[in-house]
Amino acid sequence: MTSRGPRVVVVTGASSGIGRETALAFARRGDELVLFARREAGLRQTATACEAMSGQAPLVVVGDVVRQEDLDRLAAECRARFGRIDVLVNNAGRGHRNVPFDELTDPEIDDVIRVNLTGAIRCVRALLPLLRMSPGATLVNVGSVLSRTTLPYYTIYCATKYGLAGFTDSLRFELRGSSVRVMLVNPGHTTTEFFDTANMDPKAFGPVRGVGPDTVASAIVRGVDRGSREIALTGWGRLGIAVNRFAPWLYRAVIGGQAKRGNPPGATANPAPPSATGGR
Ligand SMILES: NC(=O)c1ccc[n+]([C@@H]2O[C@H](COP(=O)([O-])OP(=O)(O)OC[C@H]3O[C@@H](n4cnc5c(N)ncnc54)[C@H](OP(=O)(O)O)[C@@H]3O)[C@@H](O)[C@H]2O)c1
Repeated sequence: MTSRGPRVVVVTGASSGIGRETALAFARRGDELVLFARREAGLRQTATACEAMSGQAPLVVVGDVVRQEDLDRLAAECRARFGRIDVLVNNAGRGHRNVPFDELTDPEIDDVIRVNLTGAIRCVRALLPLLRMSPGATLVNVGSVLSRTTLPYYTIYCATKYGLAGFTDSLRFELRGSSVRVMLVNPGHTTTEFFDTANMDPKAFGPVRGVGPDTVASAIVRGVDRGSREIALTGWGRLGIAVNRFAPWLYRAVIGGQAKRGNPPGATANPAPPSATGGR
């Protein structure tokens, strides 16, 4: 909530993890929520928890970011109920098995790119007209520490998150002078369903312990309130980004020794990509 009243906040990927906690963090401030993801049961759980905090029932839209018709429906429902969007948290995303690049299957590669990059870009395109209806709106793209650093055995994910960072930086440039601010949030290792969905072992990220998704959510709300351009979590993540930028040889020496293929025993093939099956 601002001095102008409750904000209209759209969160994609709000059925679990960082998206759910971000929705809750805005609801705690008294804001109005729009929740989008494929799993209706997860969205309903988030909606119930948000309503308990803000007293307002969120708008729940079940859909897939890779389906244009679902994004168009999201835009239409937001327009009909609110006529504007004050904050879009463009968060839906997925990982992949941490294996050598050429062991990933075509469907795995295609799905990660379609969800993390094409879906995220199309979501912005569908909702930008509604962000433009709000004076001082904020677009939050959820990248990763891997938007600014690299990791062996995690090549396609890095490609999508670097791509999202390039899109974010260019769009911010393009929208300068407009009423829409653009922010990139780069979480580090966060303890969510992300690793199970991707059938990957978080130990592949090295010995650094993850933070809870509520920590990322608080940072997002703070960043929106302050008008930040880019934020990174955690302290280790920020250190990794700085070392990768200013002493890439040191980054390669340290991370090269830590990163390894990390699939759980027996997990030689990824499950069918969720967006190809319409759910998981
Ligand atoms: N966890 C980490 O360590 C970490 C680190 C850096 C960045 N991130 C980023 O943070 C974001 C959130 O991930 P998380 O950690 O919170 O993982 P998560 O708990 O698995 O949440 C991912 C969310 O994205 C949604 N989603 C996935 N594919 C979708 C699709 N095709 N259409 C619509 N929604 C879709 C999922 O909902 P449905 O399955 O219901 O559709 C779910 O709500 C992602 O962009 C991820 O890349 C995570």
